[in-house]
Amino acid sequence: LFAAVEMAPRDPILGLNEQFNADTNPAKVNLGVGVYYDDKGKLPLLRCVAEAEALMQAAAKPRGYLPIDGIAAYDKAVQGLVFGADSAVLAEGRVATVQALGGTGGLKIGADFLKRLNPNAQVLISDPSWENHRALFTNAGFAVATYPYYDAAQRGINFEAMLAALQAAAAGTIVVLHACCHNPTGYDLSPAQWSQVVDTVKARGLVAFLDMAYQGFGEGIAEDGAVIQQCLAAGLDFFVSTSFSKSFSLYGERVGALSVVCGSSAEAGKVLSQLKIVIRTNYSNPPTHGAQVVAHVLSTPALRAMWEEELAGMRVRIREMRQALVAELKAAGVSQDLSFVTRQKGMFSYSGLSAAQMQRLRSEFGVYGVDSGRICVAALNSRNLKSVAAAMAAVIKG
Ligand code: LMR
Repeated sequence: LFAAVEMAPRDPILGLNEQFNADTNPAKVNLGVGVYYDDKGKLPLLRCVAEAEALMQAAAKPRGYLPIDGIAAYDKAVQGLVFGADSAVLAEGRVATVQALGGTGGLKIGADFLKRLNPNAQVLISDPSWENHRALFTNAGFAVATYPYYDAAQRGINFEAMLAALQAAAAGTIVVLHACCHNPTGYDLSPAQWSQVVDTVKARGLVAFLDMAYQGFGEGIAEDGAVIQQCLAAGLDFFVSTSFSKSFSLYGERVGALSVVCGSSAEAGKVLSQLKIVIRTNYSNPPTHGAQVVAHVLSTPALRAMWEEELAGMRVRIREMRQALVAELKAAGVSQDLSFVTRQKGMFSYSGLSAAQMQRLRSEFGVYGVDSGRICVAALNSRNLKSVAAAMAAVIKG
């Protein structure tokens, strides 16, 4: 039966974890996957999460099946966070939100629903994008192409080319946009650029699918979600996938959501019914624990304030590591201007290193980053910074 099965390639990001775990180099550093570690190199258990779990444990409940669309209080909390608790679109009942298995799960539910709705649509992702965007939409049955994004020469975004590609896209094209903290480049659009993108999406009849996996890691919770307000103001129907993996440090709990903004509450009801079919036929209904924790924190003022403070702490530490990396690389004798690292937002830095240089970082120095040149700045700390900078300097200098 399986004689013809071929070995699939390793996942370009998660596959690195496997390689990293097998590496016996005691000085190894994992800057591959997008995970935040604290300054001691430890994966944090946020205090707001521990306190919510203690309260939940004290009043432990049996674990029945959840509704197909998840915990109602969780879906409501997600909507408040993404759209603003007193947003008109929520009062009008125009948003269908479902609990999902992480941000990836939200993307997949949306992709499967869109495939039924508009099977011949093309999907456009940024060039480059998170490696899994292409795979996920391709596996959902779509033809996936790219719109220009990264400008290597300018160390930024080729905005004119991006806009021109969107203006040339056929009506109904699904455009996957990174709401904040672009993965992998770290370069985000300015509010004025977003406004042009939103106008183009509207004028061309495109379908915006916003991937918001890093809300709070760029400038702040509201600032990072600003594009959502622009889409609402433009009166778009659009998709938003949410992830709490990073912002709550709940990676393994797979806590995410998909929200679909519709033209009326009647439409939202019908869309929700279709999303539930996608979920039921994939994994039936979602798990309880992580979503309960997030709902608890977001809806309890003291815990929510604690979360916002802890999230700000992660955001600030990442920024400090960006500054420190640039300084250390300079101290290690790198003469190029690397200040672009401090202009990038979120967990990642698109370092500009080639695949060959990234491979050399791994094999000679045990420093693991993605072959695209992406490194996770959120995994740097005061202990590993010097050795990482020395390794990067060595491969940059050749
Ligand atoms: C990443 O880009 O490293 C994260 O989003 C984790 C993942 O699932 O790839």
